[in-house]
Amino acid sequence: MKNNIEKALFVKLTWKIISWYLFHGRKLPWRETKDPYKIWISEIILQQTRVTQGMQHYLNFIERFPTVEDLHNASNDEVMLYWKGLGYYSRALNLHAASHQIVEEYQGEFPTSFLDLQQLKGVGKYTAAAIASICFQEKVPAIDGNFYRFFSRIFADGFDISSPKAYSYFYELILPYVPEIEPGDFNQAIMDLGATICKPKNPECEICPVKEDCLASQIGKVDAYPVKTKKVKAQDLDLTYYLIKNKEYFLARKRGDDFIWKNLYELAPSIPDDWQDNIVSYKNIKHKLTHKNLNIDLYVVEIEDEDFHQFAKDASYIIMTWEESHQFSFPKPLEMVLELYSEVEN
Ligand code: ADE
Repeated sequence: MKNNIEKALFVKLTWKIISWYLFHGRKLPWRETKDPYKIWISEIILQQTRVTQGMQHYLNFIERFPTVEDLHNASNDEVMLYWKGLGYYSRALNLHAASHQIVEEYQGEFPTSFLDLQQLKGVGKYTAAAIASICFQEKVPAIDGNFYRFFSRIFADGFDISSPKAYSYFYELILPYVPEIEPGDFNQAIMDLGATICKPKNPECEICPVKEDCLASQIGKVDAYPVKTKKVKAQDLDLTYYLIKNKEYFLARKRGDDFIWKNLYELAPSIPDDWQDNIVSYKNIKHKLTHKNLNIDLYVVEIEDEDFHQFAKDASYIIMTWEESHQFSFPKPLEMVLELYSEVEN
């Protein structure tokens, strides 16, 4: 049992955070609703995507799929198309799969607790906590990088945030500060403080509403927190693609759901041996994914009509115009290649 002085300190810090949020929190479209479907969509979009970039995507997505039933009834290709520009397409695949779970297993009703929400595909502890606290008033911290940074600094706490125990350590530490009333405001306040004031580099401590409570700031060591010892090293991955084209068209196909870029469209990974002489240009593309450094060799191959159509038929490729390629979702580096060539061709 915490003593009264400790309780008063929790309340004081929480109160400062919440009142700052009420006056200075960002006005964002998903903050005008408590519909768990919309909050879920916003949280998945905002994983790995900045608020400014995610905003229009959120509005477009909600306009096209206003309810979980609409998402459930849509084709996989259309969902992927609406995800275009956001990257990390596995998030869109998981969203679609979870819409099936909600409609088919939960009769269209969203799960309402932190634990049950984690049963949904693609919903981890952070997203479940955000939805449970914002929509269902559950007192649970939504711990992400912002939380680690903010609370490591507040307490000048050197717990290693790359340790597998970091989540449960910070969960215990922060839980007493999460208010019973509008816990979602508290979580969103930390998101805003982390994004606008308590930033990883050049934090703006002078305007921070809790600078008197921040131990790291008091001892002049804000840059020393959070402590993170391990970095996941990205692996190198070599890929080869062939842009097989004739005068008007090129060939593409849908990827399987193994490995990277699940269910996106791609170019041909190989060509018949006797087409080597038809290679007309080459480009090397470097592209970074979260845990992979891609090194893509891209060859452009020009093929006469008859062979082109025969190959498309035999190897099940889709014949596309540059214009039509906009209707399909390609991984970012291939999309850039297509854009480049469509300018050359048009
Ligand atoms: N990042 C993740 N979730 C967010 C939210 N609800 N508001 C602002 N930024 C976020």
